[in-house]
Amino acid sequence: MIVFTNKLEIQDHISKEKAKGITFGFVPTMGALHNGHLSLVERALKENDTCVVSVFVNPTQFDNVDDLEKYPRTLEQDITLLETVSKTILVYAPSVEDIYEGNTKAEHFSFDGLEFEMEGKFRKGHFDGVGTIVKRLFEIVTPDIAYFGEKDFQQLAIIKKLAQKYNIPVNVKGCKIYREDSGLAYSSRNSRLKPDYRKAAPFIFKTITAAKEKFGTKSAKEVTEWVEKQFAKNKFLELEYFIIAEVTTLKTVKRKSKSKTYRAFVAAYADDIRLIDNIALN
Ligand code: PAF
Repeated sequence: MIVFTNKLEIQDHISKEKAKGITFGFVPTMGALHNGHLSLVERALKENDTCVVSVFVNPTQFDNVDDLEKYPRTLEQDITLLETVSKTILVYAPSVEDIYEGNTKAEHFSFDGLEFEMEGKFRKGHFDGVGTIVKRLFEIVTPDIAYFGEKDFQQLAIIKKLAQKYNIPVNVKGCKIYREDSGLAYSSRNSRLKPDYRKAAPFIFKTITAAKEKFGTKSAKEVTEWVEKQFAKNKFLELEYFIIAEVTTLKTVKRKSKSKTYRAFVAAYADDIRLIDNIALN
């Protein structure tokens, strides 16, 4: 396993390999790797000759200093875990300086309105930070295919938009949400949940699964109100939002239409840990 910390060194390595015709899959991460990440890496290795995994806790996408400071950093453990999948994976674990060169600021992007919905309303500047880091990583790694989990469905839509708007020659692929047996979506943040909150967290998926069932016969407003009531009864989880949105614009649905595709999105706090999830409705 080669671990690069310097962008010029990994760029040099990749360009030599590409000259030999080697294809590259790419899985960008913020580390604290779990089975969800590994499923992306496995898919990348299946569909490409090799795979780069970046491990970088990107400061410009955090709107909360405390969250940034407490974000788990487990590089040694991440490398060991990746080695169980394949020793041929390339890891890029840069410093903040290597990426931002003394100017740790996000660029400003327009993602045609996608950035103003859901997470954009509650995490100011988040998608400028995501756009900045992903664009830089794409420029450094120059992957053929990049893989992102659908747990961050809005992020995935925004990254597809980024590649399209900036003519970045990469195929951005979304991968199904990877869940524990309890239904809880894998997340690096799960490792920080205190026991009672950890036990309560599968309620999120259980509730959105029931919401999907109800969406067959009830309006989006009725389903939303039902979900809000269920969360109000749960003393371990505080709902930030539950939204039913159309998948291409991510705009909240006012009136259901048979020709459109919808998804339900949720963000909730388990103590001070923010968890998100989503589910296809039709
Ligand atoms: O989803 C994440 O882990 C991050 O937002 C990403 C895409 C690696 C950018 O920092």
